[in-house]
Amino acid sequence: MILRTAALAACLALTTALPAGEVAEFGKTPEGEMTHVYTLSNDNGMKIKLLDLGATLMAAEVPDRDGEKADVLFGFDEAAKYLSDDNQYFGVVVGRYGNRIAKGKFTLDGKQYTLECNNDPNHLHGGGDKAFSKVVWEAKASDDGRSVTFSHSSPDGEEGYPGKLDAEVTYTLTDDNAVRIEYAATTDKKTVLNLTNHAYFNLAGAGDETINDHEITIFADRYTPVDETLIPTGELAEVAGTPLDFRTPHQIGERVDLMGEGEGAGYDHNFVLNKTASDRPGLHKAAKVTDQDSGRTLTVLTDQPGVQFYGGNFLKGQTGKDGKTYAYRSGFCLETQHYPDSPNQPQFPSVVLNPGETYKHVCVYAFSAE
Ligand code: BGC
Repeated sequence: MILRTAALAACLALTTALPAGEVAEFGKTPEGEMTHVYTLSNDNGMKIKLLDLGATLMAAEVPDRDGEKADVLFGFDEAAKYLSDDNQYFGVVVGRYGNRIAKGKFTLDGKQYTLECNNDPNHLHGGGDKAFSKVVWEAKASDDGRSVTFSHSSPDGEEGYPGKLDAEVTYTLTDDNAVRIEYAATTDKKTVLNLTNHAYFNLAGAGDETINDHEITIFADRYTPVDETLIPTGELAEVAGTPLDFRTPHQIGERVDLMGEGEGAGYDHNFVLNKTASDRPGLHKAAKVTDQDSGRTLTVLTDQPGVQFYGGNFLKGQTGKDGKTYAYRSGFCLETQHYPDSPNQPQFPSVVLNPGETYKHVCVYAFSAE
């Protein structure tokens, strides 16, 4: 019989190069599995917090133009809240397929696969209890203590997806105040995959009441219009002449009321990135957001073809870290990704992963102050 004390469990959870104080228990899942929070710091004194539960980016303390720090990320204080149906995917890694798959069905080599329709009538963000956002990943710190790699092995058929999938997500906090997220995965059977991070930001500090005053640029001439169930029609439409034209900076709130009325209306769209060159090799610019009051600025870089700009239209005052509440449209997500419903849209860039291939995806959330 193997006895696991809390200390041993913490030790097993992280083969550590982090100082012991930088790993702490975060509470148990309902099945009794202990979760952990990891803190990374850089030479500028910036800190981020990560969870093995959902391979989550749960906090980032970012300086403003006067050096004043604020945590700009949404999150919860308890493991149970990350596992609840109203977790809103705060900061988690979503998978196996981030975003929607129409009616939870797709076909590979003539065989149809059926996934849970957890976002009636569609499949969203990998499904139910075994979605990547809801499982506890294994953690390992790099020798220099600057990164943590989370790994997870998902059996063939889990949540309806074919193939045993081995996935890794590495978070690195660099000295220029950037959070670099590197994804890698392999499969033993042909499958589909689209991992992303679902961080919600408010650059005035999470819990501030709005993002409508943030100014955003999105480096995209086109977007993927959707039907009433948020599934792409297949068209790559021009943003020109629409409230989705963020090729020059606009406040988020300037035209949001033109995006329709009712629950969920607002910005929730996949943009087709122009692949605008950046100063980081292999990565193009996806978006840039500035909170003019504090000067805090987020630049998003990636190697992916799309980014989902989601403006927090389903937030309704959920209580998060330190008792802060997250009001309607008080946080935004920029989820670097392949386009929604790609498994059913052959004209979109392919999301098929074959045995012998390695899925790779890089997303950088780079912070600065203007
Ligand atoms: C989707 C939204 C969805 C939200 C859930 C976003 O990625 O685009 O439609 O409501 O995730 O938190």
